[in-house]
Amino acid sequence: MSILSNRRILLVDDTKANIDILVQTLKQDYKLGVALNGPKAIEYSKSNRLDLILLDILMPDMDGFEVCQRIKENPLTQSVPVIFITAIDDPQHKRKGLEIGAVDYITKPFDISEVRARVKTHLSLRITQEELSNRNLILEEKIRERTRELKETQVEIIKRLSLASKYRDNGTGQNVARISRMAQILGLAAGLNPEEAETLALSSMLHDAGKIGIADAILLKKGRLTADEWRVMKGHTTIGSKLLSGSRSRLIQDAETIALTHHEKWDGSGYNQGLKGEEIPLISRIVGICDVFDALISDRPYKQAWPVHLAFQEIERKSGTDFDPRLVKLFVALEPELIKIIKETAG
Ligand SMILES: [Fe+2]
Repeated sequence: MSILSNRRILLVDDTKANIDILVQTLKQDYKLGVALNGPKAIEYSKSNRLDLILLDILMPDMDGFEVCQRIKENPLTQSVPVIFITAIDDPQHKRKGLEIGAVDYITKPFDISEVRARVKTHLSLRITQEELSNRNLILEEKIRERTRELKETQVEIIKRLSLASKYRDNGTGQNVARISRMAQILGLAAGLNPEEAETLALSSMLHDAGKIGIADAILLKKGRLTADEWRVMKGHTTIGSKLLSGSRSRLIQDAETIALTHHEKWDGSGYNQGLKGEEIPLISRIVGICDVFDALISDRPYKQAWPVHLAFQEIERKSGTDFDPRLVKLFVALEPELIKIIKETAG
């Protein structure tokens, strides 16, 4: 059985004799449907999966042009090729038919071998198009799958790298997750689009990556740091940015920015460049608030966790000195969502 034999063709003509000739010509090779007027043709096209329509132009009530337009307006049938049936010397009808979406025309009186050849050509074209679009769908799905895998790998590596630094700093994966989620919602509130906020959720995880390079004697010291030790400690910003420098990925570039500038303060008293106000990148101002807030509400060897309401007060107290006042307002307004995140990342 030929690959074409399962294909269904609708024959539309108000002259029964014409239909009879077409049926005789095509019935050996294809499944056929028949309509003697326009409305019947539309009805048939809605309830049968068609591969081709042979459509007479001059019919009472609804002519072939209107039938063709309706077929092309319906998303379910618009891809079905239409071949017009025209009188032999009728150039205007041929032109108009092709303009409104017909792929070809055949002329009356019928030349049987021409009808067969044109039908076969257009059905073969349709099959090729279907195969191509199926292949494209498969390829697109494969690309989506690969992209998803790459993204998952990227997220996993970032999480593991961030844990490597946080574990050394008495922190936990919960701290990393909490800062990440808080930065994401504060970012959204501050005007980042969802994609940018999602990138921030990941890039923020590496803000303290540079702590990998700080000696335990300093990083884990319980007492106050000496001036020299403090200088070394501040170096986690430059170590982190060097660790992340030179990437072509936007995410890692953002992570580099955050690693370098997350301890800058709004009034210019932070480190390590003494940036002021909006000189500090927005993503770093966002992470700066979330990082300090997270430290306040977490237990450390040298201090107990602060109650959440006092931590909010502390952030507000430092508005305009340590933190961007606009971001502080947004942060405080997010209290219900932030408390939800704190509960979900507790432990
Ligand atoms: Fe830090």
